[in-house]
Amino acid sequence: MKVKASAPGKTILVGEHFVVENEPAIATAINLRAYVVAEERNDNVVEIISDNLNLREVFMEGSENRNSPLYPIHHAVRYIMERAGLSKGIVLRISSEIPVAAGMGSSAATAVAAVAAVSRLFGVKVTKDDISRAAYIAETIVHGKPSGIDNTVSTYGGVIAFRKNEGFIRLKGNFTTAFLILADSGIHRNTGSMVKKVLKLKKKYPNIMEPLYHAAGRLAIEAGKAIEMEDLEKLGELMNINHGLLSAIGVSNQKLEELIYRARSAGALGSKITGAGGGGFIIALCTGERVEEVKNALKDVSKRIIVTRIENEGVRAEDLD
Ligand code: MEV
Repeated sequence: MKVKASAPGKTILVGEHFVVENEPAIATAINLRAYVVAEERNDNVVEIISDNLNLREVFMEGSENRNSPLYPIHHAVRYIMERAGLSKGIVLRISSEIPVAAGMGSSAATAVAAVAAVSRLFGVKVTKDDISRAAYIAETIVHGKPSGIDNTVSTYGGVIAFRKNEGFIRLKGNFTTAFLILADSGIHRNTGSMVKKVLKLKKKYPNIMEPLYHAAGRLAIEAGKAIEMEDLEKLGELMNINHGLLSAIGVSNQKLEELIYRARSAGALGSKITGAGGGGFIIALCTGERVEEVKNALKDVSKRIIVTRIENEGVRAEDLD
């Protein structure tokens, strides 16, 4: 028997970085997914093949290659199998539409899909919360001390308001007029080290940084209200203010600013970095009539522009045969 599971990537609308220190943030699932096909092996080895990374790794219990980029996935699926008292062999084949190291939660989406696929294959009863928690374990290996927003939005889908110590709520709204344009800065960066850099600055200037964190938290609450009122103009304005705060905490750069200001000049309702910053993608919120103009304005400066929509469906799994 084979099982296929998938989970969406995400983009943070407001509140990245601030969320790590327990301020609220808002993220949405997007219509790009990571896919995992799982099949049983006749031993107790976990074999993982990644089509995107062009990598195959075999994990034997007790002698795993912990430096492999696939190790976190292995760790999450072992966690869920051990919890169910299973010691089984498995092959996982990963393919993904979500760009890697881009602020779109590709690692979390892959972990969520892998855990869902393995659980279904072996008939392990899991709740969405169990899946999200197992994926969070993988995220701690990838990113150090993540807030948990990526695995949450990837598991549940939709638009969520998230607070680290309190959990999340799904926001209501009709998002059919919202287009999210993502443009690649072409600069690679690592989420874990960006988070560390910001926390170091916060420690150095607590009296200056704390009010910025507080403002970002207030802003996320306002943005949540704007989303539920379906007020995209207000959401865009708040995204722009949020970007100013992200610049202040040191995660923007010249290339990102150029992309952001081009998008705004071409009629985006709001534009900002999304995710850890320092590189990766920027996000621009648009209505349908502005999509072409914004894309055109970005294409001289970005080699990869992806037009996405809000995705309501989180993780899903099905039998293949
Ligand atoms: C990563 O997608 C977003 C950050 O806020 C880190 C986190 O929440 O773990 C930068």
